[in-house]
Amino acid sequence: MTTIKACLFDLDGVIVDTAVYHYKAWKRLANQLGFDFTEEQNEKLKGVSRTRSLELILQWGGISKSPAEQEELATLKNTWYVDMISHMTPAEILPGAKEFLVTCRAAGLKTALGSASKNSMMILEKVNIVDLFDAVIDGNKVTKAKPDPEVFLKGAKAVGVTPAECVVFEDAIAGVEAAIAGGMKAVGIGSPDVLGAANLVVSGLNEMNLEKLKSL
Ligand code: G6P
Ligand code: MG
Repeated sequence: MTTIKACLFDLDGVIVDTAVYHYKAWKRLANQLGFDFTEEQNEKLKGVSRTRSLELILQWGGISKSPAEQEELATLKNTWYVDMISHMTPAEILPGAKEFLVTCRAAGLKTALGSASKNSMMILEKVNIVDLFDAVIDGNKVTKAKPDPEVFLKGAKAVGVTPAECVVFEDAIAGVEAAIAGGMKAVGIGSPDVLGAANLVVSGLNEMNLEKLKSL
């Protein structure tokens, strides 16, 4: 059994719940284009890059746009999204997330963020937990989206450990797949029905502890 030396965390849905802000901003964009989409459809956008999310939404609305127009629409959505997350506070950290990060670090484990979001740093600053990460790998530092393992492999490298020594915490199927593809252990945050491929599934980081980590 390999000893775990680092924990790699997805951001949205694991540390904070920004999905609601993404949803509001995408919905506003869709409404402006003359259609709407459901919260259920929004589930399909979790863990998906900004560009790919827009492609899916335009498909749902039966609308086609040129690459230049798509770029403009994605930027507009991001302006609205950034405006909302600029008001985030530490109260929005998901239950147990900060405590588990502190526990990991106190036990000598490295911690890194592995998120597709280009706004990761701003969110970490707003909720005041930048200092709890040894490395932050975000959407600005990767070229391949999850389920490609790039974001987590870069995280492992940044904190000086091998992939086999890492555990990834993820709420999206694509993220769990990325962890496995990278040769890492995966803890799913959410429902076992959805994240069954993970080594362990918990409903939130408030259910995690060092014993569970060691038993993976
Ligand atoms: C995360 C979220 C997605 C979001 C993506 C890009 O993976 O789960 O919903 O689209 O990040 O975020 P960004 O802030 O760069 O638009
Ligand atoms: Mg997520």
